[in-house]
Amino acid sequence: MRQLIAGNWKMHGLGDALGEIEALKRMLAGNPPPADVLVCPPATLLTRAVAAAGGAIAMGGQDCHSEQKGAFTGDISAEMLKDAGASAVIVGHSERRQYHGETDGLVASKARAAWRAGLMAIICVGETEDQRDSGHALHICGNQLAGSVPDGLTAENTAVAYEPVWAIGTGRTPTSREIEEMHAHVRQSLVRRFGEIGRRTRILYGGSVKPSNAAEILRVADVGGALVGGASLKAAEFGAIIACANPDA
Ligand code: 13P
Repeated sequence: MRQLIAGNWKMHGLGDALGEIEALKRMLAGNPPPADVLVCPPATLLTRAVAAAGGAIAMGGQDCHSEQKGAFTGDISAEMLKDAGASAVIVGHSERRQYHGETDGLVASKARAAWRAGLMAIICVGETEDQRDSGHALHICGNQLAGSVPDGLTAENTAVAYEPVWAIGTGRTPTSREIEEMHAHVRQSLVRRFGEIGRRTRILYGGSVKPSNAAEILRVADVGGALVGGASLKAAEFGAIIACANPDA
């Protein structure tokens, strides 16, 4: 499958940020991307971002509730995201796990909700710095993966994102060898569980991806794309990362 370059805007962006969507759309029109492109703006901007993108850039949510509807004040269902024009949703981001106490089981139920609504789920896993330093990174991410990915995965309905917590927003990244090792481990787990489907499922890398390191990361074996935080907020930077996608991946 083509690589997927996804931008996670997190809690950034007021109406004026739509200019970045328009700028990105212009860039991609002039230079067709060698990858699938997705932007996940805050929910408040989703409808307007979809309109600004005019079909040229796919849009996604950053989280969803597991239920379709109900008395869950402040929450947003996968069906609501779909209705607003989203085609994907991030679930199990480490910031949700850390600040909202999300467990693997809850993340799995959110992934199922995404599929129920017809959205692609981007299911995130990643170790903390202590876990890596103590040599447990592969084990931790393997466990998160096993608990967070429900039965029913297909290469189309899911991308897995490996995001080491210590690399998010820090400017630090694992070495290419470390990324390769983790992605091979995730691949192995997916293939063991899902067979050929697991071989085709995209495994994204996330954590301090920027124009200066994107080309190297996107050429690592088994890297199926990138999940980009800070550097996705500006069209120029995000466009430069997209241009680094590996068409032969
Ligand atoms: P940064 O690219 O800002 O490190 O964030 C990564 C991330 O968390 C994307 O989901």
